[in-house]
Amino acid sequence: MIFRQLFDSVSGTYSYLLASRAGGEALILDPVLEKADRYCQLLRELDLKLVKAVDTHLHADHVTGLGELRDRTHCITIMGDQSKADVVSMRVSDGDKVTIEGLSLDVLYTPGHTDDSYSYVMGDRVFTGDTLLIRGTGRTDFQNGSARSQYESIFNRLLKLPEETLVYPAHDYKGDTVSTIGEEKRYNPRLQVRSVDEYIELMNNLKLPNPKMMDVAVPANMHVGLHQEELAKEGRALSVPEAMLALGRPDILLVDLRESGERAKHGTLAGALHAPYPSIEDNLKPGGMLREVAAATGRRIVFFCAFGERSAMAVAAAKDAGFLNAAHIAGGMDAWKKAGGPVLAA
Ligand SMILES: [Fe+2]
Repeated sequence: MIFRQLFDSVSGTYSYLLASRAGGEALILDPVLEKADRYCQLLRELDLKLVKAVDTHLHADHVTGLGELRDRTHCITIMGDQSKADVVSMRVSDGDKVTIEGLSLDVLYTPGHTDDSYSYVMGDRVFTGDTLLIRGTGRTDFQNGSARSQYESIFNRLLKLPEETLVYPAHDYKGDTVSTIGEEKRYNPRLQVRSVDEYIELMNNLKLPNPKMMDVAVPANMHVGLHQEELAKEGRALSVPEAMLALGRPDILLVDLRESGERAKHGTLAGALHAPYPSIEDNLKPGGMLREVAAATGRRIVFFCAFGERSAMAVAAAKDAGFLNAAHIAGGMDAWKKAGGPVLAA
């Protein structure tokens, strides 16, 4: 496994680059905008293809690198269901898995620091975001934070992991890089409380100043979605009502870009072909499945995904591959469902 802990000294943020092998797919957790050049250089040096960028929560102390990395690498951006970010490619909830080639992360909803805080368990290690820090815990006094939920998340979820589980937080200000669940149980001063009420009392009396970057970071992190105005202007974005009329038309080739887990959870559209986004370039090149089907049937490709971001990137990839009229459903399944569109079990 390739595992890199990367540090941003300005915000004290740890980001993590994960991959199962050189030459393979990679995932990055909690990337920082200003470090995008460094991440991209490291990806080249290690011969990795970034396919997923995940934020554990909406950060208040630095601007996320999610949007920048998506623009540069066409990766999928991921946050939790509760996140107030405008658009990410994929949203996850407790019990989901985030997978790339050779690696799988279990998604744990651990609210408290914010109401969109998640932790990710991968084998012998857990990425705790700002829920559990080394000898500390994330503050709970803004962004719908709750000391009570954080107590539940820590004591009833994270501390239930095996004691030897390695703890990799999203921040450290003292230079510590890793801990274990057992170590934190015994030596984290915030966790030496006898009751949830005692924890709440402790957390409500920290009297911390707001993060320096907060007024910049929070609004910026709420607007990470891909700009899609051009696509709409070029007539390559179908609104949901337009897409509803196109449903079942013989000249349209509907393509579902989501993963099997998302299809099982949210359903799909009648007649849609399944072609997951990470393989889009292979599918569009000569001999690729989508190229063959589109050529054989003469149909116009219409992509859709969860929120319209992967499909917008797929339209661009299709254009590069010579499919000038490919389009997508703006807003994806989310917008489709909100408009009451018919959904099929996948
Ligand atoms: Fe945070």
